[in-house]
Amino acid sequence: MAHTLDPAGGLPAVWTGTNGRAAVLRALEPGDDGLLGDFVRKLSPASRYQRFHVGVRELPAPWLDLLTRVDPAREFALIALASDGERAACVAEARYALDPDHDDAREFALAVADGWHGQGLGVELLQRLLAHAHARGVERLFGEVLRTNTAMLRLANRSGFRVATHPADARLLRVTQQLRSPWASQRIAA
Ligand SMILES: CC(C)(COP(=O)(O)OP(=O)(O)OC[C@H]1O[C@@H](n2cnc3c(N)ncnc32)[C@H](O)[C@@H]1OP(=O)(O)O)[C@@H](O)C(=O)NCCC(=O)NCCS
Repeated sequence: MAHTLDPAGGLPAVWTGTNGRAAVLRALEPGDDGLLGDFVRKLSPASRYQRFHVGVRELPAPWLDLLTRVDPAREFALIALASDGERAACVAEARYALDPDHDDAREFALAVADGWHGQGLGVELLQRLLAHAHARGVERLFGEVLRTNTAMLRLANRSGFRVATHPADARLLRVTQQLRSPWASQRIAA
């Protein structure tokens, strides 16, 4: 699959969904903990569980802090913002981060606000993660997906990921996309 987006991420950018609703996509910034916290709190319990694989109602402050401190050498994170009347609200978040066991691999995760499902935002965000990782020389991108998460498995499938069993957790499947040959000498660029 070709990933032709601007390597810098082409952000900020305006995205328009299949039903005409628009959102601004931009890189996640250190001061976004409030936006991100609200976004996670407003997800349905099912979506929160699918995203974090634990039953939390909201993210504890240290976890939120960790998610908003993005190290550009090892991670990439973006959010989608839309007006909820008076102010901007986060309606989606997507990221990849270093896999501590494999220097050349990155693990991705994303979530879209329940009211925004099915309009193409998941596809857009995953394509952006793939393009960014590809431009950075990441060897492979993978995600851990609950077996019951039909929407994410469908999204991964249509985005070119292979699905395999998880080595350690029977609840999960691992979806992987090889972005470059493991034998290539190219290193991950900061
Ligand atoms: C998975 C998720 C990110 C998809 O986002 P989205 O914006 O709704 O996805 P899109 O509109 O881009 O659609 C992508 C594909 O998913 C499918 N899809 C979307 N919602 C679906 C649903 N409820 N059931 C089945 N398939 C669904 C779409 O049909 C589309 O596939 P298709 O083009 O083959 O028809 C979203 O459902 C979500 O945030 N879920 C909760 C968090 C989560 O599961 N995160 C994944 C952790 S790795």
